[in-house]
Amino acid sequence: MCGIVGVLGRHEAAPILVEALKRLEYRGYDSAGIATIHNGTLDRRRAVGKLVNLSDLLVHEPLPGKAGIGHTRWATHGAPTVTNAHPHRSGTVCVVHNGIIENFRELRDELAAKGLHPETETDTETVALLARSYLDQGLSPRDVAQQTLARLEGAYALVFLFEGDDDLLIAARKGSPLAIGYGEGEAFVGSDAIALAPMTDRITYLDEGDMAVVTRNSVEIRDAAGQLANRPIRKISIDTGQIDKRGHRHFMAKEIAEQPTVLADTLAHYLTDGQIALPGEGLDFREVTRISMVACGTASYACHVAKYWFEQIAGLPVDVDVASEFRYREPPLVAGTLGLFVSQSGETADTLAALRYCAGKTDKIVSVVNVPESSIARESDLVLPIHAGIEIGVASTKAFTCQLMTLVLVALAAGHQRGHLSDDALAARIEDLRGLPGLVHHALGIEADCARIARALAEARDILFLGRGRMFPLALEGALKLKEISYIHAEAYASGELKHGPIALVDKTVPVIVMAPHDELFDKTVSNMQEVMARGGKVLLITDAKGAEVAGDGTWDRIVMPQVSPLFAPLLYAIPAQLLAYHTAIAKGTDVDQPRNLAKSVTVE
Ligand code: M6R
Repeated sequence: MCGIVGVLGRHEAAPILVEALKRLEYRGYDSAGIATIHNGTLDRRRAVGKLVNLSDLLVHEPLPGKAGIGHTRWATHGAPTVTNAHPHRSGTVCVVHNGIIENFRELRDELAAKGLHPETETDTETVALLARSYLDQGLSPRDVAQQTLARLEGAYALVFLFEGDDDLLIAARKGSPLAIGYGEGEAFVGSDAIALAPMTDRITYLDEGDMAVVTRNSVEIRDAAGQLANRPIRKISIDTGQIDKRGHRHFMAKEIAEQPTVLADTLAHYLTDGQIALPGEGLDFREVTRISMVACGTASYACHVAKYWFEQIAGLPVDVDVASEFRYREPPLVAGTLGLFVSQSGETADTLAALRYCAGKTDKIVSVVNVPESSIARESDLVLPIHAGIEIGVASTKAFTCQLMTLVLVALAAGHQRGHLSDDALAARIEDLRGLPGLVHHALGIEADCARIARALAEARDILFLGRGRMFPLALEGALKLKEISYIHAEAYASGELKHGPIALVDKTVPVIVMAPHDELFDKTVSNMQEVMARGGKVLLITDAKGAEVAGDGTWDRIVMPQVSPLFAPLLYAIPAQLLAYHTAIAKGTDVDQPRNLAKSVTVE
């Protein structure tokens, strides 16, 4: 989603802005632009497509100046064109924005009546026009920003730059993240710590409703009520090496390969003397009567896997909702409900809104996040970090498996506390989990098979994924991964559901990928697979050696996985789901790390 950066520096701003925007590329974007002030004069350059187009433009039309703002745009209102690209300017003010101004039409009509007409299709330009209208009344930049923000409805992270003042940025946040960075006689603004990492390791995250007046030597933050606010300066340690492909062709490939290491890290963070230790005061699952899990996309499939775990291991009923539907359904939340929110970025607007719906309605709000400084983490009673490290590829991979690892540990702790798991049973499960990073490493050995099969999958127009029990959410994840990066239409069904309708889709042109370790449901899945093959369907069976033996002949192809405790199979079977999608995308020649239309962190509803 849109990325924002601002610089009040001691050196030329344009190269710093472009480098910072490159570090925000992973969020997904379709155009980019920067504006600077030089000798008091404001100017901007914007380009459609990748940042290289903006860099090329800057070679031919340089933009001098030591103060500036920059933006990568993920289009919401209006196509990705130069005109619609940020920064947006009206008169002597320029703005960059992440979010959606919901009342922009109403504001636009009001401003048009005053002779201030838009030149773009964007909601953001209205902010610039509104600011200009206040400037025209002779207000100071600070008052202009304050008055403008007071009129905005919706979500925003905004940075204002004013012509004539090259030592001033005004930043504001409501619904979309924004951080201020401190340098020596320099100051920075950015959408996240990654953008600011090489410039400074001292940052302040703005709170909801904050407005910051930033100069090179001062930062004044006021809260939503206009009161001076003292926000902590945090020392961040981001290993900028993590924002490097480290020899891999894509971030996604690197992140898939990192899974044995990061899963071991997650495990190590939650095990103390062989026991599961949750942070802070932990959780007392004896008091919990129900868990309400809420997330989006891949994170929601992690929740669906965890539902099986909480119910089977701890006897706890679980509801799983996609965040965009949750609050509008107005679910009644009974006493004893634990709200559990899962998000890699911790900034997903739908999930954050669902969390806010639950505040005060559930006994406790717990979040499972990869970014511990994120909004979702900061608004939770208890944060369970997944320790996956920075995930850059838009298609989530290592975050998914680390979410699963964190959630299964919580489910085991719950099962033990509630008396469903004896000490010995818990110890045995933990021992199994300790073996998982090694098994994942072993499973990565199927890559050549996945690459070979993917060449055939790339020819398909539609692909079906099937799974039963804990493997059903894995089938959903496999289909999502494939859709996201190869653009092939894929659907997932619970194996037993196929015969209730979707089997009509089956013919020899539709590969059917069956994810089925040899578990207690395997025979039933094989029957469903036979139903597909009897209709000429082309089955790719992903199973273990025992499953391959029992299933017999007739499948189109097979991937043989290492043997794993069936309870934990979802952690392992994520690997073929990821590798098949990755290699199908390679075969199709798509943009693996930044697939079309997608954003890494979706900060609008
Ligand atoms: O940052 P989040 O985990 O909250 O993001 C949720 C989804 O947007 C995300 O999982 C999305 O589905 C991924 N692109 C999946 O690969």
